[in-house]
Amino acid sequence: MTTMTTGTSRGQRVFARWYPRMMQRVEDAGQADVRRDQLAQARGRTLEIGAGTGFSVPFYTGLVDDLTLLEPNAALRTALEGRAGEAAARSTTVTDGDAHALAFPDATFDTVTASLVFCSLADPARALAEVHRVLRPGGRFLFHEHVRGSGFRGVLQDLATPLQRRLADGCHANRDFVGLLLDSPFELDELAHLRMPTVVPTIVPLVVGAARRVS
Ligand SMILES: C[S@@+](CC[C@H](N)C(=O)[O-])C[C@H]1O[C@@H](n2cnc3c(N)ncnc32)[C@H](O)[C@@H]1O
Repeated sequence: MTTMTTGTSRGQRVFARWYPRMMQRVEDAGQADVRRDQLAQARGRTLEIGAGTGFSVPFYTGLVDDLTLLEPNAALRTALEGRAGEAAARSTTVTDGDAHALAFPDATFDTVTASLVFCSLADPARALAEVHRVLRPGGRFLFHEHVRGSGFRGVLQDLATPLQRRLADGCHANRDFVGLLLDSPFELDELAHLRMPTVVPTIVPLVVGAARRVS
């Protein structure tokens, strides 16, 4: 395993104190099964953006050759480094980086994955364009994102977003991730609407699926 690192902000350090424990309960309640089912599709050279502490890492199979785990929060990256060996990939690299400006040449990866990341990005359209750029034509983007729901829940999510952004390192409760994908050059291959098994109502509606870079 290779590792490259930099520093963290106060907001990132606060997030790193509570997120792993909160999320572990969600994983135990069934979220880990969603990751397992989806990540069985990852293959070849694979990049995960915003890998956090590595909840997805154990679910990469031997179909993945080289796995790159990108995480900008140094406090989370420490835990990620500890889990990197759990992936069945031939080699695994943990790296600092920013989804808005990926430090990889065009068409580097066969698969890019993201779980619960686009909610936290300042410019999700730009990051999606970067994911598209670093995928080879025919390569797949496997996503797993909490999104804005409909009706009363959507209104609650709109109201809660300013506070949630402050408490959770920029996390928006009300992102329209599918709308973003449909406005992008990606071709949507698979889409499932699920519910995150959590008591936090602002992050329950979940979309899980795959999109393809066509050319
Ligand atoms: C809610 S956490 C999800 C972590 C992990 N993917 C998981 O499923 O548990 C959001 C992640 O996005 C990362 N993130 C935030 N801004 C980012 C950026 N500009 N580029 C890449 N990752 C970013 C955060 O550091 C954090 O690890």
